[in-house]
Amino acid sequence: MTFLHSIRWRLTLWYAVVFGVTIIGAGITAYFITRSTMLDNLDRSLRNEVKWVNEFIEPRAKRIPLKRAALRELEELKRSAAAQTDESDQASDVSDEERAASDEMWEQIYQHTLLSPRRHFIQILDRNGDLLYRSQSLRGYAIRYDDIPYQWINVVSTQLEDGEDIRLALMQNNYVKIFVAYPLEPVHEVLDSVFTNVLLIVPIALLISIVGGWFLAHKSLKPVDNLTRAAREITARNLNRRLPALRGDDELGRLTEQFNDMIGRLQASFEQVQEFSADASHELRTPLTIMRGEIEVALRNARLSRSTREIFESVHHEIIRMSSIVESLLILTKAETGRQAFTFSAIALDELVRQIAEDARVLAEPKHIRVKEERMDHVMVAADGARLRQLLLTLVDNAVKFTPARGTVTLSVVHAGSTAHIRVKDTGIGIPRKDQERIFERFYRVVRDDDSGGTVPEGSGLGLSIARWIAEAHNGTISVESRERRGSMFTVSLPLSPPLKG
Ligand SMILES: Nc1ncnc2c1ncn2[C@@H]1O[C@H](COP(=O)(O)OP(=O)(O)OP(=O)(O)O)[C@@H](O)[C@H]1O
Ligand SMILES: [Mg+2]
Repeated sequence: MTFLHSIRWRLTLWYAVVFGVTIIGAGITAYFITRSTMLDNLDRSLRNEVKWVNEFIEPRAKRIPLKRAALRELEELKRSAAAQTDESDQASDVSDEERAASDEMWEQIYQHTLLSPRRHFIQILDRNGDLLYRSQSLRGYAIRYDDIPYQWINVVSTQLEDGEDIRLALMQNNYVKIFVAYPLEPVHEVLDSVFTNVLLIVPIALLISIVGGWFLAHKSLKPVDNLTRAAREITARNLNRRLPALRGDDELGRLTEQFNDMIGRLQASFEQVQEFSADASHELRTPLTIMRGEIEVALRNARLSRSTREIFESVHHEIIRMSSIVESLLILTKAETGRQAFTFSAIALDELVRQIAEDARVLAEPKHIRVKEERMDHVMVAADGARLRQLLLTLVDNAVKFTPARGTVTLSVVHAGSTAHIRVKDTGIGIPRKDQERIFERFYRVVRDDDSGGTVPEGSGLGLSIARWIAEAHNGTISVESRERRGSMFTVSLPLSPPLKG
């Protein structure tokens, strides 16, 4: 789950979760509000209906004995008003007049139900539970419910005999038991459609929230990416660089400002340290020159005893070594503070390398090392001749130093595209892979624990640092390929037209 390591994705995820929970909550609330509103409306109109029936029947029931209406159809009920049916037997003591009044009453209730836009069921029983009236919409099914409140209306959810869900309002008075019901199906239909809509909207809304969240997070974190990239490019070598200032006085703007301040302070202390080493190297130079001069004068004295002469010679050697270290340090610190000027001019590389080969032969002479010139392309580059010479001499010096007697050092210049490659190859002791990148660091020298250990050539470990600095000042690179005990090859690659800087 690497994407969880990105704030962008985490924000998007959080956004989607919060949004999703909100929308689901809203859906559920909408569902239940719709449900309770619809049931409330239903109940209110049921109660009104029961109230109406009650108020309609009660005063009439006081005057006339209630007669059972025709069981099935009101059409039948109308017909039976004239003709005698067997149902009239049970009320044989009722006069025709009263029968007509009773039927008239049921007829009016029937007319009333026709006015209602809703399909609804009415059932009226007498005190004994015998049927008096049942609306046609009930298709002959009875509404059964035992707990009938007296003189107040109760509303319940129940089922018809055929299983149809209904909402039922019921009450009884001194004469009748009144049942009025609505089918619940229309309510269910609306609720089902609310449910399906919510189900449909949730994934769409989630998708929108993910896309939107990602877009928002992306937009607000874009400056952070820019800062990261810019910060990555700042190293000890370019502490004068600053992060681009962000518009607006927000968190990121302040962070950038603080960051730049911090780099400023780093740069100041870094420069202080460089200043110090530059000053120190510089101050050491003069006493070393004086010491060297004095020792050389002393060595010219012919009357020195052999042991004193040996001591003086050793001191002389060490002073020369120390001077060279101090000199190298001075070059490097000046390079870092940018106080070292380069003078570029057109240089013919093949000519320069041939001269270096001559110098190399002088260096290689005592160890009987052969110096070969291979391919020598004629290439012109813009370079500081003296610095380039110093670079190549460093490489040749190393090649001779780390190659056993009777080895070979090979020099070449190869022109490839817009780059010139100068190669210094030797058949020496080579460099272990793990050390190959580090040898360009200051004071880094390969520690050899094999048999060559006893004869480690002396050196300060500064040569290649200076070489790399010179190559980079020419917009070039220096690299090494090496195999232990086989030899090494250093390649200096220079662009044919470096920008003039110095
Ligand atoms: N041609 C080479 N063959 C084998 N090892 C090498 C070669 N060139 C450099 N090295 C290794 O890289 C190390 C660093 O080289 P570098 O020139 O910087 O320092 P140095 O030669 O030891 O001292 P100096 O500052 O006097 O040149 C050396 O100590 C050596 O171990
Ligand atoms: Mg060296």
